[in-house]
Amino acid sequence: MSERLRLEFNEWAKAGRGPSMERGHRPVGEQAIRLLEIPDDGRVLDVGCGNGWATRLMAAQAPHGRVVGIDISDEMVDLARESSGSFSNVEFREASAEKLSFAEGEFTHAFSMESLYYYGDILRALQEIHRVLKAGGQFACVVDLYQENSPSHQWIADLKVPVQLLSIADYRSLFEVAGFVKVHDQRLYDPTPVPEDYAGGSFKTREDFLEYRAAGSLLVTGEVAA
Ligand SMILES: C[S@@+](CC[C@H](N)C(=O)[O-])C[C@H]1O[C@@H](n2cnc3c(N)ncnc32)[C@H](O)[C@@H]1O
Repeated sequence: MSERLRLEFNEWAKAGRGPSMERGHRPVGEQAIRLLEIPDDGRVLDVGCGNGWATRLMAAQAPHGRVVGIDISDEMVDLARESSGSFSNVEFREASAEKLSFAEGEFTHAFSMESLYYYGDILRALQEIHRVLKAGGQFACVVDLYQENSPSHQWIADLKVPVQLLSIADYRSLFEVAGFVKVHDQRLYDPTPVPEDYAGGSFKTREDFLEYRAAGSLLVTGEVAA
């Protein structure tokens, strides 16, 4: 499974999908990162970092801290490293979210954008993220593909790797089973206008795209008990 994900996302990296995902995810990702309130000495983990755009954004907020991006795709990690030369507080590693090579309590915050539903074992990944966060540490996870956002389901047939279509209640429950407390969910909305002449792409019709935008992205947050 991990090898299949690595190879598929290596193809995405080669096809230039790192920057296009950045364009698509950034308007909502920035809102989620703002809510994390990362201090200037924060130690942050970006899980499934892709081309590292969020890793760099968080590194700019933590100039006296350290931000680490991990991704299962070595070619995404290469792209992320190539774009991050000007940051001295950033590091990228090729790794699976289900097996993190970090010490207990190493991070104060963790973030993940549009990555969790690809994992074969989401609970295991959440337990790992919980383990590497310190007491009081915060995790914010954004997903666009979830049960309550019907138009997002049309992606499943087009993806070349399996995904898990979970409900908001499923995500909340997984967070709690993994040990997170103060679990909270909310929707975040992308304010970018949907083009009048949208002629397909991620959605079959402009109406689907509008419905997807109205449902919003799902943000689930949790804290490690102090
Ligand atoms: C849709 S992309 C999102 C990338 C980035 N977070 C963004 O917002 O642009 C999903 C990312 O998750 C990574 N990924 C998938 N399965 C993973 C796993 N088990 N462990 C770590 N990363 C994984 C992929 O390689 C890919 O870069």
